[in-house]
Amino acid sequence: MSITFCGLELVHPIINASGTFDAIAARRAFGDQLLERFPFSAFVSKTVTVSPRQGNPPPRLWELPAGLMNSIGLPNKGLDGYLAHDLPQLAQLPVPLIVNVMGFSRDEVAQLVSAFAERPEVAALELNVSCPNVETGTVMGADPSEVARLLDAVRPLTDKPLIVKLTPNASDVPAVARAAERSGASAVSLINTIRGMALDPQTGEPWLGGQTGGVSGPAARAIALAQVHSVAAAVSIPVIGMGGVQSGRDAADLSRAGATLVAVGTESFRDPSAGARIASEMRLRSGEQPYSGGRLTGSLNPPQSTETPCKTSQ
Ligand SMILES: Cc1cc2nc3c(=O)[nH]c(=O)nc-3n(C[C@H](O)[C@H](O)[C@H](O)COP(=O)(O)O)c2cc1C
Repeated sequence: MSITFCGLELVHPIINASGTFDAIAARRAFGDQLLERFPFSAFVSKTVTVSPRQGNPPPRLWELPAGLMNSIGLPNKGLDGYLAHDLPQLAQLPVPLIVNVMGFSRDEVAQLVSAFAERPEVAALELNVSCPNVETGTVMGADPSEVARLLDAVRPLTDKPLIVKLTPNASDVPAVARAAERSGASAVSLINTIRGMALDPQTGEPWLGGQTGGVSGPAARAIALAQVHSVAAAVSIPVIGMGGVQSGRDAADLSRAGATLVAVGTESFRDPSAGARIASEMRLRSGEQPYSGGRLTGSLNPPQSTETPCKTSQ
């Protein structure tokens, strides 16, 4: 089941979706067993921006009948904080590290790509293009010509693989994927979350602090499958498929639709070992022995002390 992806040798085709598995918190919770039984064959960091971000005001999560809606707002320590605090810890993981970056202008993305280009700990970069370009007001990833201009600016800055993470909130996602490929992207990944909204049942006002949020989990699966299928038919570069994957069957469906790798996101909140389980389920489906990763024992969410009052958002 080992697989070569953009020159990286991976032990199986299951990686994590950016922002859905905090490997530093997991190392604290699970100790060295996280390194011995790491659930993914590569680790994708949450999005890093040039400046630190607090993220959106609460509430940040809304549970859906089949998934989750979040308006976390990409909180992160910024480039300098990431290089100083997160990168040294993530470099200890036993798998290649893919750093996900996002900028509010081409110059910002170029600054991020240049900074990581010279770091040997970083195997590849994923460009999150789901944000507005402050210079033009359009979401970079919704417009093929914006994506082409972005790649033209950053492709010369590094020899590392550049993965463009496509947004599903675009009218012609395959056209955006083709523009990325023509301008030198090494791979594309999709889908990012789908824009959604929930209203507070009491006030009728938007529930989420960010007003709208991103839908993920099983609710997104059929949309992901259709978009991966159409993008894989439109490009020759590898495709990373994600959106609502919970089982080996879901992952096999995305790979049948044309994905080389499959990323697991929301499911890891429910089961931190989901990556290894899904890789094993895929192997069993193809008649091979299960992957020897195994389950992580313990919990990412230790029980609260009964002395601490537990505030809920509802
Ligand atoms: C809580 C949460 C945080 C996320 N953070 C990021 C992020 O930092 N960068 C990014 O590119 N995608 C982010 N995503 C999107 C996921 O990487 C993924 O594209 C999406 O959730 C679909 O996969 P899933 O249905 O398996 O979760 C986030 C998703 C969730 C649910």
